[in-house]
Amino acid sequence: MDPDDIDRIAVLGAGNMGHGIAEVAALAGYDVTMRDINEEFVQNGYEQIEWSLEKLAEKDQISQADADGALDRVTPVVDLDAAVGDADVVIEAVPEKMDIKKDVYRDVADHAPPEAIFATNTSSLSVTELSEVSDRPEQFCGMHFFNPPVRMQLVEVISGAHTADGTLDTIEALAESLGKTPVRVRKDSPGFIVNRVLVPLMNEAAWIVEADDATIEEVDSTTKYDLGLPMGSFELADQVGIDVGYHVLEYMYQELGDAYRPCPLLANKVETEELGKKTGRGFYDYENGDGAQIP
Ligand code: 3HC
Repeated sequence: MDPDDIDRIAVLGAGNMGHGIAEVAALAGYDVTMRDINEEFVQNGYEQIEWSLEKLAEKDQISQADADGALDRVTPVVDLDAAVGDADVVIEAVPEKMDIKKDVYRDVADHAPPEAIFATNTSSLSVTELSEVSDRPEQFCGMHFFNPPVRMQLVEVISGAHTADGTLDTIEALAESLGKTPVRVRKDSPGFIVNRVLVPLMNEAAWIVEADDATIEEVDSTTKYDLGLPMGSFELADQVGIDVGYHVLEYMYQELGDAYRPCPLLANKVETEELGKKTGRGFYDYENGDGAQIP
Protein backbone atom coordinates (compact mmCIF):
# COMPACT_ATOMS: atom_id res chain seq x y z
CA MET A 1 0.00 0.00 0.00
CA ASP A 2 1.20 3.49 -0.84
CA PRO A 3 1.58 5.53 2.38
CA ASP A 4 -0.34 8.39 0.72
CA ASP A 5 -3.37 6.12 0.43
CA ILE A 6 -3.71 5.84 4.21
CA ASP A 7 -6.73 7.83 5.43
CA ARG A 8 -8.33 5.69 8.07
CA ILE A 9 -6.64 4.04 11.00
CA ALA A 10 -8.28 1.58 13.38
CA VAL A 11 -6.78 1.20 16.84
CA LEU A 12 -7.77 -1.94 18.72
CA GLY A 13 -7.59 -1.42 22.47
CA ALA A 14 -8.39 1.84 24.26
CA GLY A 15 -6.04 1.40 27.20
CA ASN A 16 -2.89 3.36 28.02
CA MET A 17 -1.24 2.71 24.68
CA GLY A 18 -4.33 2.36 22.49
CA HIS A 19 -5.85 5.70 23.41
CA GLY A 20 -2.45 7.39 23.09
CA ILE A 21 -1.87 5.96 19.61
CA ALA A 22 -5.39 6.96 18.55
CA GLU A 23 -4.69 10.48 19.82
CA VAL A 24 -1.39 10.73 17.92
CA ALA A 25 -3.04 9.51 14.69
CA ALA A 26 -5.96 11.94 15.05
CA LEU A 27 -3.57 14.83 15.73
CA ALA A 28 -1.78 13.97 12.50
CA GLY A 29 -5.08 14.32 10.61
CA TYR A 30 -6.15 10.68 10.20
CA ASP A 31 -9.71 9.48 10.77
CA VAL A 32 -9.46 7.08 13.66
CA THR A 33 -11.73 4.42 15.06
CA MET A 34 -10.75 3.30 18.56
CA ARG A 35 -12.19 -0.02 19.62
CA ASP A 36 -12.40 -1.91 22.89
CA ILE A 37 -14.48 -4.81 24.11
CA ASN A 38 -17.04 -2.78 26.08
CA GLU A 39 -18.48 0.73 26.32
CA GLU A 40 -16.78 1.45 29.63
CA PHE A 41 -13.28 0.74 28.33
CA VAL A 42 -13.78 2.66 25.13
CA GLN A 43 -15.35 5.64 26.92
CA ASN A 44 -12.52 5.69 29.43
CA GLY A 45 -9.98 5.79 26.58
CA TYR A 46 -11.90 8.59 24.89
CA GLU A 47 -11.92 10.63 28.12
CA GLN A 48 -8.18 10.16 28.45
CA ILE A 49 -7.69 11.51 24.93
CA GLU A 50 -9.89 14.48 25.86
CA TRP A 51 -7.81 15.08 29.00
CA SER A 52 -4.52 14.84 27.14
CA LEU A 53 -5.59 17.15 24.30
CA GLU A 54 -6.79 19.69 26.86
CA LYS A 55 -3.43 19.56 28.64
CA LEU A 56 -1.53 20.03 25.39
CA ALA A 57 -3.75 22.98 24.44
CA GLU A 58 -3.48 24.55 27.93
CA LYS A 59 0.30 24.48 27.55
CA ASP A 60 0.15 25.88 24.00
CA GLN A 61 1.77 22.75 22.63
CA ILE A 62 -1.15 22.57 20.20
CA SER A 63 -3.91 25.06 19.37
CA GLN A 64 -7.42 24.65 20.75
CA ALA A 65 -8.65 24.21 17.15
CA ASP A 66 -6.19 21.34 16.63
CA ALA A 67 -7.30 19.73 19.89
CA ASP A 68 -10.98 20.00 18.91
CA GLY A 69 -10.26 18.74 15.39
CA ALA A 70 -8.33 15.73 16.69
CA LEU A 71 -11.10 14.79 19.11
CA ASP A 72 -13.67 15.04 16.30
CA ARG A 73 -11.63 12.62 14.22
CA VAL A 74 -11.74 9.87 16.87
CA THR A 75 -14.74 7.55 16.80
CA PRO A 76 -14.96 5.26 19.83
CA VAL A 77 -16.63 1.94 18.99
CA VAL A 78 -17.21 -1.53 20.38
CA ASP A 79 -18.39 -3.21 17.19
CA LEU A 80 -15.42 -4.78 15.38
CA ASP A 81 -16.86 -4.32 11.92
CA ALA A 82 -17.46 -0.61 12.56
CA ALA A 83 -13.88 -0.37 13.84
CA VAL A 84 -11.97 -2.01 11.01
CA GLY A 85 -14.43 -2.34 8.10
CA ASP A 86 -12.96 0.70 6.26
CA ALA A 87 -9.48 0.75 7.79
CA ASP A 88 -6.31 1.15 5.75
CA VAL A 89 -4.14 0.26 8.75
CA VAL A 90 -5.16 -1.62 11.89
CA ILE A 91 -2.93 -0.96 14.90
CA GLU A 92 -3.53 -3.48 17.66
CA ALA A 93 -2.79 -2.48 21.25
CA VAL A 94 -4.67 -5.05 23.34
CA PRO A 95 -3.17 -6.59 26.53
CA GLU A 96 0.32 -8.09 26.25
CA LYS A 97 -0.80 -11.72 26.26
CA MET A 98 -0.15 -14.00 23.29
CA ASP A 99 -3.56 -15.73 23.53
CA ILE A 100 -5.52 -12.49 23.69
CA LYS A 101 -3.66 -11.02 20.72
CA LYS A 102 -4.06 -14.21 18.68
CA ASP A 103 -7.82 -14.21 19.29
CA VAL A 104 -7.97 -10.63 18.05
CA TYR A 105 -6.09 -11.48 14.84
CA ARG A 106 -8.32 -14.50 14.17
CA ASP A 107 -11.42 -12.25 14.48
CA VAL A 108 -10.18 -9.16 12.74
CA ALA A 109 -9.22 -10.87 9.49
CA ASP A 110 -12.90 -11.41 8.62
CA HIS A 111 -13.78 -7.75 9.07
CA ALA A 112 -10.86 -5.73 7.68
CA PRO A 113 -10.39 -4.99 3.96
CA PRO A 114 -7.91 -7.43 2.36
CA GLU A 115 -5.43 -4.67 1.54
CA ALA A 116 -5.31 -3.30 5.11
CA ILE A 117 -2.00 -3.61 6.93
CA PHE A 118 -1.97 -5.08 10.44
CA ALA A 119 0.53 -3.56 12.86
CA THR A 120 0.92 -4.85 16.39
CA ASN A 121 2.01 -2.60 19.23
CA THR A 122 3.31 -5.61 21.13
CA SER A 123 6.12 -4.76 23.55
CA SER A 124 7.86 -8.10 23.31
CA LEU A 125 5.88 -10.95 21.75
CA SER A 126 6.83 -12.69 18.52
CA VAL A 127 5.53 -10.71 15.54
CA THR A 128 6.06 -13.78 13.37
CA GLU A 129 3.91 -16.00 15.60
CA LEU A 130 1.13 -13.40 15.70
CA SER A 131 1.29 -12.87 11.94
CA GLU A 132 0.83 -16.59 11.33
CA VAL A 133 -2.65 -16.64 12.86
CA SER A 134 -3.70 -13.72 10.68
CA ASP A 135 -4.71 -14.12 7.03
CA ARG A 136 -1.93 -11.74 5.84
CA PRO A 137 1.53 -12.44 7.29
CA GLU A 138 3.18 -10.35 4.55
CA GLN A 139 1.06 -7.32 5.42
CA PHE A 140 1.86 -7.66 9.12
CA CYS A 141 4.57 -6.05 11.25
CA GLY A 142 5.31 -4.61 14.68
CA MET A 143 4.72 -0.90 15.32
CA HIS A 144 5.85 -0.37 18.88
CA PHE A 145 5.08 3.02 20.46
CA PHE A 146 6.32 4.18 23.85
CA ASN A 147 4.39 5.51 26.79
CA PRO A 148 3.05 8.19 26.65
CA PRO A 149 2.77 7.98 22.84
CA VAL A 150 1.93 11.66 22.50
CA ARG A 151 5.24 12.61 24.11
CA MET A 152 7.63 9.84 23.05
CA GLN A 153 9.45 10.22 19.76
CA LEU A 154 10.56 6.68 19.00
CA VAL A 155 8.61 3.94 17.21
CA GLU A 156 10.15 0.50 16.70
CA VAL A 157 9.04 -0.97 13.35
CA ILE A 158 9.58 -4.70 13.61
CA SER A 159 9.84 -7.14 10.75
CA GLY A 160 8.34 -10.57 11.25
CA ALA A 161 9.73 -13.51 9.28
CA HIS A 162 7.06 -13.08 6.60
CA THR A 163 6.76 -9.28 6.49
CA ALA A 164 7.10 -7.80 3.00
CA ASP A 165 9.56 -4.92 2.62
CA GLY A 166 6.74 -2.78 1.22
CA THR A 167 4.79 -3.22 4.48
CA LEU A 168 7.76 -2.01 6.52
CA ASP A 169 8.28 0.96 4.18
CA THR A 170 4.61 1.95 4.50
CA ILE A 171 4.55 1.67 8.27
CA GLU A 172 7.80 3.64 8.60
CA ALA A 173 6.31 6.34 6.38
CA LEU A 174 3.18 6.28 8.54
CA ALA A 175 5.28 6.69 11.71
CA GLU A 176 7.00 9.68 10.14
CA SER A 177 3.70 11.21 9.15
CA LEU A 178 2.67 10.89 12.82
CA GLY A 179 5.70 13.03 13.67
CA LYS A 180 7.64 10.07 15.08
CA THR A 181 11.09 8.66 14.39
CA PRO A 182 10.86 5.03 13.27
CA VAL A 183 13.70 2.61 13.90
CA ARG A 184 13.63 -0.60 11.91
CA VAL A 185 14.13 -3.73 14.01
CA ARG A 186 15.17 -6.44 11.63
CA LYS A 187 15.21 -9.32 14.10
CA ASP A 188 11.98 -10.37 15.75
CA SER A 189 13.51 -11.30 19.11
CA PRO A 190 11.71 -11.15 22.50
CA GLY A 191 11.60 -7.53 23.75
CA PHE A 192 13.04 -6.25 20.43
CA ILE A 193 15.61 -3.57 21.28
CA VAL A 194 14.25 -1.05 23.77
CA ASN A 195 12.55 -3.44 26.16
CA ARG A 196 15.48 -5.84 26.02
CA VAL A 197 17.46 -3.00 27.60
CA LEU A 198 14.82 -1.24 29.67
CA VAL A 199 12.83 -4.01 31.31
CA PRO A 200 15.87 -5.71 32.93
CA LEU A 201 16.68 -2.29 34.42
CA MET A 202 13.23 -2.18 36.02
CA ASN A 203 13.61 -5.77 37.18
CA GLU A 204 17.07 -5.24 38.69
CA ALA A 205 15.79 -2.15 40.51
CA ALA A 206 13.03 -4.32 41.99
CA TRP A 207 15.54 -7.01 43.05
CA ILE A 208 17.62 -4.34 44.87
CA VAL A 209 14.58 -3.27 46.88
CA GLU A 210 13.44 -6.89 47.37
CA ALA A 211 16.85 -7.64 48.93
CA ASP A 212 16.47 -4.54 51.14
CA ASP A 213 19.71 -3.12 49.75
CA ALA A 214 18.07 0.27 49.05
CA THR A 215 14.69 1.98 49.13
CA ILE A 216 12.53 2.72 46.10
CA GLU A 217 13.34 6.42 46.39
CA GLU A 218 17.08 5.79 46.69
CA VAL A 219 17.06 3.64 43.56
CA ASP A 220 14.94 6.16 41.68
CA SER A 221 17.12 9.13 42.58
CA THR A 222 20.19 7.22 41.44
CA THR A 223 18.55 6.35 38.11
CA LYS A 224 17.46 9.93 37.57
CA TYR A 225 20.36 11.95 38.85
CA ASP A 226 23.29 9.64 38.16
CA LEU A 227 22.17 7.91 34.98
CA GLY A 228 20.35 11.02 33.77
CA LEU A 229 17.18 9.18 32.76
CA PRO A 230 13.99 11.29 32.78
CA MET A 231 12.31 9.03 35.33
CA GLY A 232 13.44 6.63 38.04
CA SER A 233 12.97 2.88 37.37
CA PHE A 234 9.97 2.64 39.71
CA GLU A 235 8.42 5.85 38.37
CA LEU A 236 8.81 4.41 34.89
CA ALA A 237 7.22 1.10 35.93
CA ASP A 238 4.26 3.11 37.28
CA GLN A 239 4.13 5.10 34.03
CA VAL A 240 4.09 2.11 31.66
CA GLY A 241 2.01 -0.11 33.98
CA ILE A 242 3.66 -2.64 36.31
CA ASP A 243 1.58 -5.39 34.70
CA VAL A 244 2.91 -4.47 31.25
CA GLY A 245 6.54 -4.64 32.41
CA TYR A 246 5.82 -7.86 34.30
CA HIS A 247 4.23 -9.59 31.29
CA VAL A 248 7.16 -8.54 29.09
CA LEU A 249 9.57 -9.99 31.65
CA GLU A 250 7.59 -13.22 31.98
CA TYR A 251 7.80 -13.69 28.22
CA MET A 252 11.49 -12.83 28.08
CA TYR A 253 12.15 -15.25 30.98
CA GLN A 254 10.30 -18.00 29.13
CA GLU A 255 12.11 -17.31 25.85
CA LEU A 256 15.55 -16.12 26.96
CA GLY A 257 16.14 -17.71 30.36
CA ASP A 258 17.13 -16.93 33.93
CA ALA A 259 18.59 -13.47 33.43
CA TYR A 260 15.03 -12.20 33.02
CA ARG A 261 13.41 -13.92 36.03
CA PRO A 262 10.76 -11.44 37.24
CA CYS A 263 11.25 -10.11 40.77
CA PRO A 264 8.45 -11.07 43.21
CA LEU A 265 8.03 -7.39 44.11
CA LEU A 266 6.60 -6.86 40.61
CA ALA A 267 4.48 -10.02 40.82
CA ASN A 268 3.00 -8.83 44.15
CA LYS A 269 1.97 -5.50 42.66
CA VAL A 270 0.28 -7.29 39.77
CA GLU A 271 -1.52 -9.57 42.20
CA THR A 272 -2.81 -6.69 44.33
CA GLU A 273 -3.68 -4.74 41.16
CA GLU A 274 -1.56 -1.78 42.17
CA LEU A 275 -0.42 -1.26 38.62
CA GLY A 276 0.85 2.33 38.63
CA LYS A 277 -0.67 5.59 37.48
CA LYS A 278 -3.56 3.93 35.70
CA THR A 279 -4.90 2.43 38.95
CA GLY A 280 -3.94 5.40 41.13
CA ARG A 281 -1.32 3.39 43.06
CA GLY A 282 1.78 1.44 42.15
CA PHE A 283 5.18 1.98 43.70
CA TYR A 284 3.96 5.53 44.37
CA ASP A 285 0.58 6.86 45.44
CA TYR A 286 -1.09 9.12 42.86
CA GLU A 287 -4.37 9.52 44.74
CA ASN A 288 -3.13 10.93 48.01
CA GLY A 289 -0.38 13.49 47.95
CA ASP A 290 2.16 13.72 45.20
CA GLY A 291 3.41 10.19 45.12
CA ALA A 292 4.72 8.96 48.46
CA GLN A 293 6.57 5.67 48.31
CA ILE A 294 4.43 2.59 48.93
CA PRO A 295 6.58 -0.22 50.30
N1 3HC B 1 -0.77 14.02 27.44
C1 3HC B 1 -0.65 15.30 27.81
N2 3HC B 1 0.02 15.68 28.90
C2 3HC B 1 0.62 14.72 29.63
C3 3HC B 1 0.57 13.36 29.29
C4 3HC B 1 -0.17 13.02 28.14
N3 3HC B 1 -0.31 11.74 27.76
N4 3HC B 1 1.24 12.64 30.20
C5 3HC B 1 1.72 13.52 31.09
N5 3HC B 1 1.35 14.77 30.76
C6 3HC B 1 1.57 15.99 31.46
C7 3HC B 1 1.56 15.79 32.97
O1 3HC B 1 0.24 15.75 33.48
C8 3HC B 1 2.31 17.01 33.45
O2 3HC B 1 1.40 18.09 33.50
P1 3HC B 1 1.51 19.24 34.66
O3 3HC B 1 2.82 19.90 34.40
O4 3HC B 1 0.35 20.14 34.37
O5 3HC B 1 1.42 18.52 35.93
C9 3HC B 1 3.28 17.23 32.30
O6 3HC B 1 2.85 16.46 31.17
C10 3HC B 1 4.66 16.77 32.59
O7 3HC B 1 5.38 17.10 31.44
P2 3HC B 1 6.77 17.79 31.54
O8 3HC B 1 7.25 17.99 30.15
O9 3HC B 1 6.70 18.95 32.48
O10 3HC B 1 7.54 16.65 32.32
P3 3HC B 1 8.72 15.86 31.85
O11 3HC B 1 9.73 16.77 31.27
O12 3HC B 1 9.08 15.00 33.01
O13 3HC B 1 8.20 14.89 30.68
C11 3HC B 1 7.80 12.64 30.16
C12 3HC B 1 7.30 13.86 30.91
C13 3HC B 1 7.87 12.94 28.65
C14 3HC B 1 6.77 11.52 30.38
C15 3HC B 1 9.22 12.27 30.67
O14 3HC B 1 9.19 12.12 32.06
C16 3HC B 1 9.77 11.01 30.06
O15 3HC B 1 10.27 11.01 28.95
N6 3HC B 1 9.71 9.90 30.82
C17 3HC B 1 10.20 8.61 30.34
C18 3HC B 1 9.12 7.92 29.61
C19 3HC B 1 9.63 6.69 28.92
O16 3HC B 1 10.78 6.31 28.93
N7 3HC B 1 8.69 5.98 28.27
C20 3HC B 1 8.99 4.74 27.60
C21 3HC B 1 8.69 3.65 28.52
S1 3HC B 1 8.97 2.06 27.83
C22 3HC B 1 7.58 1.71 26.99
O17 3HC B 1 6.64 2.45 26.93
C23 3HC B 1 7.61 0.43 26.26
C24 3HC B 1 6.55 -0.49 26.73
O18 3HC B 1 6.52 -1.53 25.77
C25 3HC B 1 6.81 -1.09 28.10
